Amino acid sequence: MTIIEDIAQMQSHRTTAPTVLVPTMGALHRGHGELISRGRELAGDAGSLVVSIFVNPTQFGPGEDFDAYPRAFADDCSLCEAAGADIVFHPSSKAMYQNDATVSITAQGLTETLCGPSRPGHFDGVCTVVAKLFNIVRPDIALFGKKDYQQLAVLQRMGRDLNFPIEIIGADTVREKDGLAMSSRNRYLDEAERAQAPAIRRALLAIAASSETNAATRIDLGREIIAKDAPLGRIDYLDIVCRETMVRLDTIDRPAAAAAVFFDKARLIDNIEILP
Ligand code: PAJ
Repeated sequence: MTIIEDIAQMQSHRTTAPTVLVPTMGALHRGHGELISRGRELAGDAGSLVVSIFVNPTQFGPGEDFDAYPRAFADDCSLCEAAGADIVFHPSSKAMYQNDATVSITAQGLTETLCGPSRPGHFDGVCTVVAKLFNIVRPDIALFGKKDYQQLAVLQRMGRDLNFPIEIIGADTVREKDGLAMSSRNRYLDEAERAQAPAIRRALLAIAASSETNAATRIDLGREIIAKDAPLGRIDYLDIVCRETMVRLDTIDRPAAAAAVFFDKARLIDNIEILP
């Protein structure tokens, strides 16, 4: 496995087709590990698998956890190697963003619900950094987790709208035994919060299992479970949206549900796909 920190070196590095890119911010866990292994399968023996590790400052808002975001580069490299990566691309912030950078990408429409309103500018930062990574690595395929459902939808739309010749694939969420979605931010939870956090998953499962067509009724069902089982949590949103447009639905005729709950410092995100 090769570690590349220099952008020009990554750009001129000869990868073999299909080149698969798995973008990450590091602090890698088993969820990332499975995503990287899936990337290995897609690249096959002949292709190249690139994992990028970059804590992207432009997707963190003021007061968010950019400085506190866990960094563990040596462990991350071991995990990447074990999962079959050929290259770890690890640029510095200074190299990625010139002081006088003036051009960036703005995402609209799909960002008016869910995480959009509570994290202004977040998806602009995600789109900008992923577009840069696409231009630097020039992959044939890029892999993202469905855990960040809205991020995947926004990036797929970016691929379409800006004509990136890249197949953007979503992979299933990897979970702890008790159902909690694996996340680099789970380590912020104290013991009591950690014990309550699986309530998010239970609420989403109940929402998906219900046969109610009225979205508000299903959301109430989920809210009740979280209020009862996770009193330490605070719901940022619990919404049912159309999978494609991310628009909130009143009646369920084709959607996905998503929840984000704050447990003090940790912002935990999870979602579930619902069939009408
Ligand atoms: P990060 O949070 O490090 O996640 C990297 C990728 O791993 C994302 O596509 C995310 O959806 C996926 N992932 C995280 N937890 C997962 C789990 N439990 N199961 C499956 N996949 C999981 O998302 C980002 O970084 C950044 O926004 C990024 C796209 C790298 C842009 O900076």
